[in-house]
Amino acid sequence: MKKLLALALGLVLVLNVAAWAEVVIAFSQIGQESDWRTANTDDLKSAIENHPGWKLVYDDAQQKQENQIKALRNFITQDVNYILFTGVVSTGWDEVLKEVNEAEIPLLLIDRMPDCADKIEYVAAFGGDFVEEGRRQVAWAGEYLKSIGMGDKDVNVVIMEGTTGASAQTGRTEGNLKALKDYPHLKLVGQQSGNFTRAEGQAVMESWLKSLDKIDVLIAQNDDMALGAIDAIKAAGKVPGKDIIIVGCDSVKAAFDAIVAGEMNCTVECTPLYSRFVVPTIEALEKGEKFSKTVVHPEEGVFDTNGGIDLGTVKSTKAADVISTRQY
Ligand code: AHR
Repeated sequence: MKKLLALALGLVLVLNVAAWAEVVIAFSQIGQESDWRTANTDDLKSAIENHPGWKLVYDDAQQKQENQIKALRNFITQDVNYILFTGVVSTGWDEVLKEVNEAEIPLLLIDRMPDCADKIEYVAAFGGDFVEEGRRQVAWAGEYLKSIGMGDKDVNVVIMEGTTGASAQTGRTEGNLKALKDYPHLKLVGQQSGNFTRAEGQAVMESWLKSLDKIDVLIAQNDDMALGAIDAIKAAGKVPGKDIIIVGCDSVKAAFDAIVAGEMNCTVECTPLYSRFVVPTIEALEKGEKFSKTVVHPEEGVFDTNGGIDLGTVKSTKAADVISTRQY
């Protein structure tokens, strides 16, 4: 009897120590607006949930800033060990992120950066270089047109923007507009938000096809909007990828399929796979290593129908050659 009691006590002790030693990582995600976002959620969720000794507390804010603010305050109340954060828009985070700092919970920024990043403390930031991605989109269109002997012809360009006020939108728009100046034959005739979703991308393209005389090039700030636009273009009796050149962003699997099928021309990569940075960073922090505002922009590519378009910082790769190796 005594032995049994000792065994039970030992077990309770072991379980308590295990619970006490658990590392709790909270993740405030924006929502599920795109294939990119789904890949990003899956990547981080599975890496954290499958890591021995780690526990994930996940919150999907359904595209609402107020939900994200509430989630961050809940994480503070729960006294989690780390917070992963990406903001639906870039402004309005000062107060709540200062509260995270005051609670001394290490903050890791991923994907979209808040405007207040230089006024708060964070351990590390992993995200796309959105201005460069936007530049690459327009430069690809300009260089591609040159490569097919159309470099001196005026062409009508529309820019379909992401969620207004998201750093992925403001950065890509900045890059798009700056690069347009290098290609004076690319004439901007439309610029509107499709909110990073397929349905809104389709609706915006439908309205452009009715209201604009001619569209030659679509620059869509993500692939989901490009894919929605393809549906609208087909429904209007036009041929996507031929009558209208389509440049997306993200490089999700569905965009590769559309390029290989000849319905889309190019996608500029923005990787959603951040667990390969987040996991080693938290492991190192757990061992006592110190980080301060380390910023990492992952290496990214550009994928198109034939490859070989030189964009200065990168040369495009033929999508069909690498489609089987893609992870998302
Ligand atoms: O912040 C990254 C962007 O957000 C991706 O390009 C887009 O697809 C996503 O919704």
